[in-house]
Amino acid sequence: MTGRYTVDDRLPADHYHRALREDVEAGLTATPRTLSPKWFYDARGSVLFDRITRLPEYYLTRAERMVLRAHAAEIAELTGARTLVELGSGSSDKTRLLLDALTAAGTLERYVPLDVSRAALGEAAESIARAYPALAVTGVLADFEQDLAIPSPAEAGPRLMAFLGSTVGNLDTEQRAAFLSRLRGALTGGDAVLLGVDLVKDPARMVRAYDDQQGVTADFDKNLLTVLNRELGADFEPGAFDHRAVWNPEEERMEMRLRARVPVSVALKAMDLTVDFARGEEIRTEISVKFRHERLADELSAAGFTLDHWWTDPQERFGVALALPTA
Ligand code: AVJ
Repeated sequence: MTGRYTVDDRLPADHYHRALREDVEAGLTATPRTLSPKWFYDARGSVLFDRITRLPEYYLTRAERMVLRAHAAEIAELTGARTLVELGSGSSDKTRLLLDALTAAGTLERYVPLDVSRAALGEAAESIARAYPALAVTGVLADFEQDLAIPSPAEAGPRLMAFLGSTVGNLDTEQRAAFLSRLRGALTGGDAVLLGVDLVKDPARMVRAYDDQQGVTADFDKNLLTVLNRELGADFEPGAFDHRAVWNPEEERMEMRLRARVPVSVALKAMDLTVDFARGEEIRTEISVKFRHERLADELSAAGFTLDHWWTDPQERFGVALALPTA
């Protein structure tokens, strides 16, 4: 084999623009105003996110990599996975630690990255296929909140579903419960889920991680407005908004918000919508829920999983859970 891969396009025609319009319409007319973090990751947003993962303040990626490096062999042994499915795979960078361990254990045959970004998926599938020529790489272009297209257990089991980077924290409690239940419904005994979650810690530390000194996260946040300008013919002036990172102690989550510095009136030409912002009015652009072991164990259990193994980095900044379908 020479590093070949396939991509299964499961997105309905014009999914991107339809979903974006629906989301923006609902979010910008709601109180408080919100936008979904899904839309951050255009080409520039993906570059900015990559820079975020290397910032001194953004400990998440390094801490998770530490956990995976220390425990990948154990994860491979515990799961015996024949198929690794990665939800929201992005650049598939940390995944290599799992691929290496599962390859060394001799069980892995197939890698299935699933992502909603065509560009990220193609690039990741290609580079993984090149680096692991003996592996069948079959990318799936889909939105994991709507469609969990994964190979059937008969040809692919046992399957390990990896959901890394604390991306599950971008879902609110209700969305998380729905997602975990749907995931459970797609699995059978013998399959496993590997979930990476950021942990509750000193609020100042978390705020710095989402409001770095160099302003990369501020650029990342405001890039969302640029995406709306390009894709929906909006006329946001990104400089008219301030980036804010706020710890919400009731919900135990970080929130990113864009706050209008002056009164702003925005027209979105592609959707016949005008939105007026008073000075100081905010758009919530992302939630990043921070977890405690107990909350995660409870949520997994409510969805029909048992939290089987739990690892953290030495400083207990980040946790990785191995969850199994409850017998
Ligand atoms: C990779 C989506 C989980 O919420 O921490 C980084 C994205 N936002 N800095 C996160 C992000 C601001 C990140 N996720």
